[in-house]
Amino acid sequence: MCGIVGFVSSGPVIDGLIQGLKKVEYRGYDSAGVAIIEQGIIKRHRAVGPLAALMTELPPFQGTVGIGHTRWATHGRAEEKNAHPHCGKGTAVVHNGIIENFQALKKDLSFQGIQFESDTDTEVIAHLFATSEHLTNLQERVLFVLKQLKGNFAIAVLLQDCTDCIIVARKGLSPLAVGQGKEGFYVGSDLSSLSGSAQKVAFLEDETWGVLYKDQAIFYDWTGQEKHLNFYPNPLQAQETEKGDFQHFMLKEIYQQADLVRIQGLPALPAEVCQASFFTALGCGTAFYAAWVGKFFLERLAKRFLNLELASEFHYRNPILPDGVSIVVSQSGETADTLKATLYAKSQQQYVLGMINAPHSSISRQVDYLMPTGAGTEIGVASTKAFTMQVLSFLNLSLALCSDAPLRQTVLDSLKEIPSVLKDIIQRSHEFAQIAAVLSQYQSILYLGRGLHYALALEGALKMSELSYIHAQGFAAGELKHGPLALIDPQHPVVVLAPWDESFSKTLSNLHEVKARNGPIFLITDTKGAASLEGLKPEGLFMYPSLQEPLLQVFPNAICVQLLAYYTALHKGLSIDQPRNLSKSVTVE
Ligand code: AGP
Ligand code: GLU
Repeated sequence: MCGIVGFVSSGPVIDGLIQGLKKVEYRGYDSAGVAIIEQGIIKRHRAVGPLAALMTELPPFQGTVGIGHTRWATHGRAEEKNAHPHCGKGTAVVHNGIIENFQALKKDLSFQGIQFESDTDTEVIAHLFATSEHLTNLQERVLFVLKQLKGNFAIAVLLQDCTDCIIVARKGLSPLAVGQGKEGFYVGSDLSSLSGSAQKVAFLEDETWGVLYKDQAIFYDWTGQEKHLNFYPNPLQAQETEKGDFQHFMLKEIYQQADLVRIQGLPALPAEVCQASFFTALGCGTAFYAAWVGKFFLERLAKRFLNLELASEFHYRNPILPDGVSIVVSQSGETADTLKATLYAKSQQQYVLGMINAPHSSISRQVDYLMPTGAGTEIGVASTKAFTMQVLSFLNLSLALCSDAPLRQTVLDSLKEIPSVLKDIIQRSHEFAQIAAVLSQYQSILYLGRGLHYALALEGALKMSELSYIHAQGFAAGELKHGPLALIDPQHPVVVLAPWDESFSKTLSNLHEVKARNGPIFLITDTKGAASLEGLKPEGLFMYPSLQEPLLQVFPNAICVQLLAYYTALHKGLSIDQPRNLSKSVTVE
């Protein structure tokens, strides 16, 4: 979902706005724009495409109050007329979310003679603020508008009648952070937009609005009652949102995993978690696949049942939930589907445990017990280290609940070899570039895995699809013969995740089924698996060192599928950190 920035200072704000937009561009990049108050007049500049397009003819704005936006369209194509900020008479607005009653509002405003220039829902906000200009009191004016809007929104607004401030507001699922720095006050969609500028930060709660001046900020609830916001030291430093020597954030974040996958002590879990026998995992996309791995860990190590639920389906079904723990998995902590599922689980008296990578996010603020996944800032839209750290969080949880001390120790001992195994894979990542050059020729790829590696097949297929735009689909290897085998021919390769384990021989049979139909095979395995192929010759093979504990093979497999997708997209010359049509944090349902 889009990126919002705003800045009120004593000097020109344009550079601060652009720096902030660069840090939120991963949230949406259909188009971009800025609006700044100059000599009492709102001036605007917008462009279709990435932020770089906005920069090509950016006027030398000198104003000290401004807002900016990078867009992920929900209503209206990626065209300049639909780019934010949207303006009304004496107003400018940037918006994240959906105004669900915008059609009715647009009709009413049109009857009042207002001309619309865009196809977006957002534009009604700008005109509503314009029609409120008869209200002299700023509070009345803001509440007049906010109370007419239905849906989810995070907005930042400029008014020509108030040239020294930005109005901000949040309702529903769209996040909004504010920050105080040496040079003034900031607003942004998330903490990354405030990194390197704000020393202290705070998140607006639901149904909160405020006024930011250069040296103070005042906040109110939806009745106009002033409310206090707790500011805390900005946990995000500038360098976390820089690529450094890497060509892409995604590669930097893949490499970081070798230093992240370690457990320093098991958590002292609350009684509600220790006593629970029924667990439900809630998540979307990659987070859901991490929970799929977690299912194996909880069953194998903690003898607990984990029910997997796609958050985007969950709360619409009004599911029956036995008493127990709901585990909410999210990198951003702002995913609308997952936030709604969390609220439903709470309404069913579930004890909610959060595995979240953003400890101050909307979802983090809803959970009963937070297990921060500790991946650090993840900028690449395609999730990598966050996935791995979600998997590690499930391992952490399962080991903490494991009553078999020898098994627990075996796993902890084997975990110590993971960083060196991941570093070994990273040092040989050029081998993935060679496989990727072949894979990039195909239109469709099947990913196969058994057990734990089925979850990795699903995740690997998602990575490949979202980065290379090749249609990739994950299947349980055992399911191949139940239908998908019909797809296999020389134009339909399979990527197989099969390190040696107790099901290896079964997967080998599946590979022979593929080979018998001339399907190209790209095998990711360990040294023991590579030595057990019984004459089968795959078209491509990547081998890593065998591990003491097969459960931990998910970690080398994760980095392998990430590198494969990365190099395939690189070979195709595609946008790596910001794949088309996607956004890092999906804050609409
Ligand atoms: C992952 O590569 C995708 N970008 C996407 O599936 C993501 O995992 C999903 O939108 C959930 O996001 P969250 O972890 O921030 O909740
Ligand atoms: N609904 C608005 C639009 O389509 C905002 C979308 C967003 O959150 O990026 O422009």
